[in-house]
Amino acid sequence: MGKDVIIACDFASAAETFAFLDKLGSDRPFVKIGMELFYAEGPAIVRELKARGHRVFLDLKLHDIPNTVKKAMAVLSKLDADIVNVHAAGTISMMEAALKGLTRDDGSRPLLIAVTQLTSTDQASMEKDLLIKEPIDKVVMHYALNAKRAGLDGIVCSPLEAAKVHETCGKDFLTVTPGVRFADSDTGDQKRVMTPAEAKKAGSDYIVVGRPITAAPDPAAAYRRCVEEFRD
Ligand code: C5P
Repeated sequence: MGKDVIIACDFASAAETFAFLDKLGSDRPFVKIGMELFYAEGPAIVRELKARGHRVFLDLKLHDIPNTVKKAMAVLSKLDADIVNVHAAGTISMMEAALKGLTRDDGSRPLLIAVTQLTSTDQASMEKDLLIKEPIDKVVMHYALNAKRAGLDGIVCSPLEAAKVHETCGKDFLTVTPGVRFADSDTGDQKRVMTPAEAKKAGSDYIVVGRPITAAPDPAAAYRRCVEEFRD
């Protein structure tokens, strides 16, 4: 696996999700589903996407005591998602427990990646609300290294951080990067963006793309353009 486009399916229902995916014709892209859709539709949405031939990044960002996360991950592992994630802030022990819970009897498991500091957290809120006084870039790299030490496969980060993450954690440590826009499209609420081609050059392993594809007049063409710009 690697070097692929993941479509962020930020929809509120299965009906909306499949109406969108039907527009892509015979393509069966890698999709990301998050809390909204998962809480609305439950595990059935993952089973259905898998049955239709999609790979699934289940973006639930688990963060709890290690034992709880381990048990929850054992359940998610049975759903056969391809990528799942946790908050690195849950500590190395929690990430190790997540990995144990995910690993099936035959040793196989979904990829496990970590969220470092959310992009909605800035230096000021980190200092004021979380009492973390270090520079945010240092905190992000520290969390990435913690994820690596715990045995995780990679992290979610900005494509602008991908090169640094690979330098710090190794070239095989996956960088899954949202914040991607076409050169000629609206950036919307994303502040720091790269095009798919720039993200590829920067070393992103997977780009997560939502609205540039889901809100495009021709989503199939937008998806293909994204793949052409990004894949080797
Ligand atoms: O529509 P857009 O391309 O901005 O969607 C990006 C997706 O990636 C959304 O699902 C968003 O929640 C997610 N994401 C992000 N930035 C992060 C982590 C996740 O944009 N740091």
